Amino acid sequence: MKLNLVERLITNNPFRSFLQRNVEGPLLRKMGSLPEYTLCLEIGCGRGIGAQVIVEQFGAEKVIAADIDPEQIERAKENLKPEFKDKIEFRVADAMALSEPDEKFDVVFSFGVIHHTEDWRKAIKEVSRVLRYGGEFFFEEPLRPFLRNFFVRTFTGHPSGGEFSFEEFREELNSMNIDIIKMKRIGNIAIFGVGRKR
Ligand SMILES: C[S@@+](CC[C@H](N)C(=O)[O-])C[C@H]1O[C@@H](n2cnc3c(N)ncnc32)[C@H](O)[C@@H]1O
Repeated sequence: MKLNLVERLITNNPFRSFLQRNVEGPLLRKMGSLPEYTLCLEIGCGRGIGAQVIVEQFGAEKVIAADIDPEQIERAKENLKPEFKDKIEFRVADAMALSEPDEKFDVVFSFGVIHHTEDWRKAIKEVSRVLRYGGEFFFEEPLRPFLRNFFVRTFTGHPSGGEFSFEEFREELNSMNIDIIKMKRIGNIAIFGVGRKR
């Protein structure tokens, strides 16, 4: 689901980029355990900072960065530093129906995207489908109680089909053959972590 005006303001700004570069990127990088992060997919890439973090901090050789919103993809292309041009490829694509072959990627990233999909289970199914065996799935997502908080409900436009508890998220990953290997949970607010496909 595309972002509303408030979400665009929250997401498309330098402070969000600062957080991705200096907090989320390093935190997730420490949780990963693959020797190399060669071919990566980022779903819901937004303005494209995450894809650059994946190259800079995970050493990715190639990142396919996808977003359902063509305007976000245009923004991401404008933000792309010249040195990343041959490493990052942008695509308009729906995380719930990716046109990528099975088991193509070493890694999939979701920086705050699964909870924006109308059916989060479909998105998880797609993540697992395109991930190779032994590949890693990095996630950073808010949980249902946070999304139901008065301010979030009033000013943002999240689909109810994107809400989950931590237990539901873990069970769904497990049923899609992804085991959570490292995770940080901030109460009932958000989770950050990495899973591995078995
Ligand atoms: C909260 S923003 C996060 C953007 C970026 N990952 C970040 O961390 O700054 C969520 C992004 O997911 C995209 N999105 C929402 N639903 C999607 C879907 N079904 N498939 C792909 N992208 C989607 C939105 O257009 C938006 O750019």
